[in-house]
Amino acid sequence: MSEWKVDFYGHVCQYRNLKEEIDAAIVEVLETGKYVQGPTLARFEEELAKYYGMDYAAGVNSGTDALWLSFMALGIGKGDEVITTTNTFFATAEAIWIAGAKAIFVDIDPATCNIDPNLIEEKITPKTKAIVPVHLYGQCADMRAISAIAKKHGLLMIEDNAQGFGAEGPDFKVGELSDAVCTSFIIQKNLGTFGDGGGVICNREDVISRIKELRNHGSSKRSHHLMGYNSRLDDLHAGILSVKMKHIDEWNERRREIAKQYDEKLEDTSLVLPTEKEGYRHIYHLYVIEHDKRDDLQEFLKERGIRALTHYPICIHQQEGYPWGEDAETSPSLPLSEKSASRVLSLPMYPELTQEEIDLTIDSIIEWDCQRKG
Ligand SMILES: Cc1ncc(COP(=O)(O)O)c(C=O)c1O
Repeated sequence: MSEWKVDFYGHVCQYRNLKEEIDAAIVEVLETGKYVQGPTLARFEEELAKYYGMDYAAGVNSGTDALWLSFMALGIGKGDEVITTTNTFFATAEAIWIAGAKAIFVDIDPATCNIDPNLIEEKITPKTKAIVPVHLYGQCADMRAISAIAKKHGLLMIEDNAQGFGAEGPDFKVGELSDAVCTSFIIQKNLGTFGDGGGVICNREDVISRIKELRNHGSSKRSHHLMGYNSRLDDLHAGILSVKMKHIDEWNERRREIAKQYDEKLEDTSLVLPTEKEGYRHIYHLYVIEHDKRDDLQEFLKERGIRALTHYPICIHQQEGYPWGEDAETSPSLPLSEKSASRVLSLPMYPELTQEEIDLTIDSIIEWDCQRKG
């Protein structure tokens, strides 16, 4: 049992609600005797491709692996520059570094915290090979504008969709404008397994078959014709994800309902609330507010038993572990990303939140806000 009155995640609750279906799926996989690259993985890959209306999908070990295996399959590596954002999870840049390329950061549109397409072209050099837009917090980046730039400069585009499963743009679907979509199935994502997992969805057969070789020690059939890795999505996870994917649209809809309540009831407070851009379908992987006194608000909520978290309090280029030197940009100027990182706070957001939990969170924030205003 959680020690919080309102926890940040609802995984156990989700499991209990689907216990019969999930337990049956696990038993079904165990009975097949095929746990690695077996029929359950193959079936889930078909379902995943179908969900996105695309031709192919590959299950891998994590969202991080989905990214760097895609980079490698698309020929991105040493000497290449890859444009992305700095206010995302560390893995976005880490995957670029693992593939041997250099991450080049572009500042954000402060309204959405997604990459600002107007700032991309000034960062393009002869070494630029790809753009990696991140659909941060569950709202798509402006893919039309980004893909026009990618086309103009002959660049590849790989979507970091770890936080955007089920999100859509006003006149585009995820995957429609890019070379590959990479997603994460780690437990806390909108579609998450009970552990780690990831997937790549793509219309290019050559890219997916290369990823399937790379994920399995560079092997096809019996021979190893290239150096690869071990990054397969286990059949047990594929079976669990198959069950959960049937519910993803309904769960995303519930997230949107909760977001609407936060939007309406916190509208008159001093919090800066997230913006859903006209025509976009934000699926609120995270409901992120901004405030100068976010640490104070987080502490106040904690005292009331409400768990709020920060995504992400330190930009990637300012992380201690970020590889400086020739592998990284020196002192990029990213003032809007840095400002946002110092102000963000994610409120509890998951489909299983009860009305009492939502009300307690809202009432506590209003109480904090009134106290501040005196
Ligand atoms: C934006 C983003 N990219 C990449 C990842 C990496 O995914 P994983 O944790 O499955 O490796 C995550 C999540 O964890 C993420 O939020």
